[in-house]
Amino acid sequence: MADKKKINKAADPANLTELEHLHVPVIEAPELVLTGQPFTVKVTVPHVMEQAHYIEWIKLSMNGRKLGEVKLSSSDASPVAEFTVTIPEEVIAVKEIEECRIHGVNVCGECGTKSVLTELIAVESCNVHGLWEGSKRIEVMSKIQGEGKPCKWK
Ligand SMILES: [Fe+2]
Repeated sequence: MADKKKINKAADPANLTELEHLHVPVIEAPELVLTGQPFTVKVTVPHVMEQAHYIEWIKLSMNGRKLGEVKLSSSDASPVAEFTVTIPEEVIAVKEIEECRIHGVNVCGECGTKSVLTELIAVESCNVHGLWEGSKRIEVMSKIQGEGKPCKWK
């Protein structure tokens, strides 16, 4: 029986083992999102859904903040979860405090709009192989634009 507390991650995301490929959640989300604007995050796990071996749930979080959880059962066709996520403006402020000592805040040179880089974290639970984590880096941009001009983020 797998350890139910340890969260497994891919040792080398560019070269997944077969076990990792079957268990590491794959996150689909926009690369750049605006605070206060809902967007869709789709999490898939390329795993079987059989009575004796299946994915029990998929959770999504960001900066330790839980964004959602989907419970699954062995009778579900495939382990897929869709979340509608809205990131509040406070995330920018919190990250500003967290990051300014080391990296500074990302501020667009064109208009002064702030953004932060953060990670969406998905964790799934396989009833046989335990917990597995996948992540995706996204950029969160403040909806408050400095000069009201469109940004030219790269
Ligand atoms: Fe499994």
